[in-house]
Amino acid sequence: MQPIRTDRLVLREPRLGDAGDVFVFRGDPQVQRYNDEPLRTLAETEAFIEYLLAEAGADLRRHFALEAGGSVIGLMGLHSWQPRHQQAELGYDLAKEHWGRGYAAEAGRAILRFGFTAMRLHRIHARTIADNARSVHLLRSLGFTLEGTLRECSLEDDGRFHDSAVFGLLRSEWATAG
Ligand SMILES: CC(C)(COP(=O)(O)OP(=O)(O)OC[C@H]1O[C@@H](n2cnc3c(N)ncnc32)[C@H](O)[C@@H]1OP(=O)(O)O)[C@@H](O)C(=O)NCCC(=O)NCCS
Repeated sequence: MQPIRTDRLVLREPRLGDAGDVFVFRGDPQVQRYNDEPLRTLAETEAFIEYLLAEAGADLRRHFALEAGGSVIGLMGLHSWQPRHQQAELGYDLAKEHWGRGYAAEAGRAILRFGFTAMRLHRIHARTIADNARSVHLLRSLGFTLEGTLRECSLEDDGRFHDSAVFGLLRSEWATAG
């Protein structure tokens, strides 16, 4: 996979050597509050990167490390890839100290382009906890439409069931928004 350059980021395949940087956000309970369980060790982080690479090798995903100033500050990619239906799901997380600087939107625009062109997708969807305001804001700013709500779908750390919001973006909509 060729690296993609945006104004401030290099998007490239994750490497085992990124484990220290990735642990900063994948091991951070606040960043992972609405995402997967936080990773606990560097070894778990290396195993997670190996898993991403194995899935990429099996054409189940295309995942990018978001590199800024020589460090990996986040991960974003298209997973649950179904070539037969030309669809995949967008997933992302970013180190907390880099929130609110537009990095996720910048990477997202480049990855949508990659998905709709290089991966030839027809549809990209994303599922997020409805209370995850930054995530919902990101998806709307990338042009996604709210397609539905899965009510009380996940039991979170606060002991409550939270709704999940399902967002979708079609290639035709993305191309028109240009
Ligand atoms: C979801 C997540 C990636 C969003 O990150 P974020 O930093 O809020 O999103 P962005 O990078 O797009 O930044 C948005 C804001 O940065 C600000 N900003 C500052 N400088 C900017 C710049 N140069 N360009 C654009 N926006 C800029 C703007 O206020 C912008 O908001 P706006 O769209 O209203 O203008 C992040 O909160 C995260 O990692 N959360 C935890 C993981 C998670 O929940 N993942 C999803 C699981 S489903």
